[in-house]
Amino acid sequence: MSRLSEAAVEKINAICDRYAEEKTPLMMILSDIQKEYGYIPLEVQELVSERTGIPVAEIYGVVTFYSFFSLKPKGKYVIGCCLGTACYVKGAKQIIEKVSEVLGIKPGETTADGMFTLDALRCIGACGIAPAVNINGKVYPKMTVDAVPALIEKYKGGKA
Ligand code: FES
Repeated sequence: MSRLSEAAVEKINAICDRYAEEKTPLMMILSDIQKEYGYIPLEVQELVSERTGIPVAEIYGVVTFYSFFSLKPKGKYVIGCCLGTACYVKGAKQIIEKVSEVLGIKPGETTADGMFTLDALRCIGACGIAPAVNINGKVYPKMTVDAVPALIEKYKGGKA
């Protein structure tokens, strides 16, 4: 979406119009755009702002606050490491550091081949099986540092 096509502009305007009657439409609009395109770059935020009258700063604030919105395209596999309290005390920091080391990227980044994105998450509601890692919606319980390389290898080899 680096230069928006006419079709993309139409689609985004249609998404904005879908919620025109809502009092607080922003989250719904952004969720639909995120689902449709996988990310919400600045030019799309500007378009949403023009269409809805919501200031770009407010839109940007929402997009950057919630981890399920993204400014950049995400990888095929999004590895979300929970850093909530329960996971943290059970070694989540070491796990995210290991994932970061194996993939060669920092949290928030995507590998050059577009395969993996690494995200740091707040509590994902799986505290009982901490530390938890979520890959494209699948939750891996009681993750260990030693298990990280094999898990990533499984996804690389398409065997996950
Ligand atoms: S703190 Fe990680 S799942 Fe709750």
